[in-house]
Amino acid sequence: MSETTPMSNVSKDKPIAVVGAGTMGRGIVQVFAQSGFDVLVFDANSQAVDSAMGTIKKILDRNVSKERMTSTQAEETIKRIAPVRDMKEFATAQLCIEAASERPEIKKDIFRAIDGVLSDDAIRATNTSSISITELAAVTKQPKKFIGMHFFNPVPIMKLVEVVLGLETSEDTYNRTHALAEAVGKTPLRVNDHPGFVSNRILMPMINEAILTLQDGVATADAIDGVMKLGMAHPMGPLRLADLIGLDVCYDILAVLHRDLGEDKYRPAPLLRKMVLAGRLGNKTKKGFYEYE
Ligand code: CAA
Repeated sequence: MSETTPMSNVSKDKPIAVVGAGTMGRGIVQVFAQSGFDVLVFDANSQAVDSAMGTIKKILDRNVSKERMTSTQAEETIKRIAPVRDMKEFATAQLCIEAASERPEIKKDIFRAIDGVLSDDAIRATNTSSISITELAAVTKQPKKFIGMHFFNPVPIMKLVEVVLGLETSEDTYNRTHALAEAVGKTPLRVNDHPGFVSNRILMPMINEAILTLQDGVATADAIDGVMKLGMAHPMGPLRLADLIGLDVCYDILAVLHRDLGEDKYRPAPLLRKMVLAGRLGNKTKKGFYEYE
């Protein structure tokens, strides 16, 4: 059956493939499935997929109880998601989004593995927050079909997709990616490949400065976050946001900015490094700048 979205002319005949069932991958799976796309999801750790399915069900149940969707819509959303045991099952996908660990070699191995499985026409997308799109594209035979599709946490809530063009990305790939992002209710914004893109080049120095402010004893974590919430209308303060993103992720992104842009202003705060070394990574370890139940 052929189905298209009226605004964007996006076809839902071919599935979306997602690699990685962590926080970001799970959110990406959910938004595509609830927008009517069939979704194939793979994670090297099959337990991560089970856990992601459980979380998606809980979020959909909550949406039903809040009357944002019917129970039939929630059930149909779940039915559209197919966990797969092998990435070879991605052959029919129109778009594959990689949302695995933020390590260049892991991402490159994934793209090498799926390059020959996907059709030549399929879009190869990465949700990386800091690794060069051009560098990842170079390991594939289809760099023109390669693009950054940077979603934001929590994916079902945040409206933005930062669409990042590598050196070789074609206009056709950009246009199709833009249309797919709109088809899942997101607002795509076009950005060129450069360290940190737009989002993290601006966000991470602010978070780093908040950590330096705490380190210098200027104020407590609560007061620093309170200043930014009450004085600048941020939805959450920078330290709590760092906990949400993951302190290891913040550290890695700052390290990339520092290395690739070569300026001291991006140097990760010593306190951030210390917290990562201590295993205080934020929400995911229930301890960061705050403690979580
Ligand atoms: N998944 C799904 N839904 C979530 C959620 C999650 N992880 N966290 C919160 N929500 C939902 C809540 O359930 C709630 O829904 P209801 O309306 O049904 O109650 C709604 O969001 C609002 O939540 P709360 O009332 O608990 O709290 P809030 O009003 O403070 O909103 C927030 C929470 C949406 C996270 C908001 O604080 C916010 O926008 N914070 C900033 C988030 C942000 O900046 N994200 C980007 C991080 S950077 C990144 O992801 C990319 C990168 O490269 C680092």
